[in-house]
Amino acid sequence: MIKKISNPFLLTGYVSPEYFCNRIEETERLKNAIENGRNITLLSLRRMGKTGLIKHFFYEYAKISLKTRLLYVDIMPTNNLNDFIRELGKAILLEEQKRSANYFTKIKDIISSINGKLTFNPLTGAPELELGFKPSEESITDLGILFDYISKQKNNYVIAIDEFQQITYYPEKGIEALIRSYSQQINNVQFIFSGSNKHLLMSMFSDYGRPFYQSTEIVVLERIKKDEYVDFVYKHFVNSKKVIQKMDIEDWIDIYDVYTFYVQYFFNKLYSTGIKTITYELMHSIAWEILKEREYIYFNYKNLITVSQFNLIKAIAKEGRIDTPNAGWFIQKYHLVQPSSVSRGIQSLLDKEMIYKDEFGYKVYDLFFSQWLAQL
Ligand SMILES: Nc1ncnc2c1ncn2[C@@H]1O[C@H](COP(=O)(O)OP(=O)(O)OP(=O)(O)O)[C@@H](O)[C@H]1O
Ligand SMILES: [Mg+2]
Repeated sequence: MIKKISNPFLLTGYVSPEYFCNRIEETERLKNAIENGRNITLLSLRRMGKTGLIKHFFYEYAKISLKTRLLYVDIMPTNNLNDFIRELGKAILLEEQKRSANYFTKIKDIISSINGKLTFNPLTGAPELELGFKPSEESITDLGILFDYISKQKNNYVIAIDEFQQITYYPEKGIEALIRSYSQQINNVQFIFSGSNKHLLMSMFSDYGRPFYQSTEIVVLERIKKDEYVDFVYKHFVNSKKVIQKMDIEDWIDIYDVYTFYVQYFFNKLYSTGIKTITYELMHSIAWEILKEREYIYFNYKNLITVSQFNLIKAIAKEGRIDTPNAGWFIQKYHLVQPSSVSRGIQSLLDKEMIYKDEFGYKVYDLFFSQWLAQL
């Protein structure tokens, strides 16, 4: 069944390859790693498309490897091991439910061994797992029960754990080591560890002495190839009988730095006007609307940082990017204070994830915020 979509520029979830631009090589790379027994760490800036890529890979992989169980576990909302178990348990449950009508017989034992209760979401009918509070030692046992269940299945599993850096915030000690040891012991499971806090995740996998040290293949998700993105956007407008210039699409993809979320958001809004002939002026007014609609959030950002940090981030936004923020010309041009305070400001903005650094220099993380700052 083909799901009818009202706007081809998705902002949440994954539907099908039709609404997913390219990522052919990346998908192939995941497939190759999984098929050859390499676990993966998937890293990128926020909103570049990691979750989308995992979902797309699962969609494609399910077609060629019918028997592999594909578990997607988002641990963003988890704060401790018990929460982790609930999410992993839920993923096991969902996958079994998809596979067979009497899935319940199969999983009722493990649910009761972790003292879980199966409920159903009243809106969607999807199974949910309720777990009461438990002391850490019991949660550790429960984790063993879940992995034991998986290891006894005839099928292979791929378990994608999204926002994996979250486990470093759990109060329980040694969870990293525990998961690492399960990933080594169980040979019918491959893992994809994904996350965006580059610093935290990187150090988990690259610091000598950490349990996951050099244990996975690191895949850094970069921007989608621009030409592919232009074609993707063009195709969707033309398919719905709209008139639009490829050159204009390219310009705006450039303005949004080929950054997936921002490109998607902009074209989603543009598409939703329903206007048949799309001019550059219309695009301009949509871009302006986006900034206006977010303005109240951005005014609030001003209260979260000091005046000098605000002036610094504004200066970065006006430049677009800056590789040497301590340079005299930059400090003079924007009336910043001494280099030492600029350095501290940079560090603080990095810590708050309001800016990031790539090979070209520092940039404001939120591109809409950057544009808003630049026009002040
Ligand atoms: N290849 C793609 N083609 C079209 N849209 C995409 C693609 N990849 C991601 N998207 C869209 O871009 C947005 C950001 O993607 P996604 O949520 O996958 O990023 P993420 O890296 O997981 O972000 P976060 O760091 O916030 O978890 C979403 O709206 C998603 O639908
Ligand atoms: Mg994500």
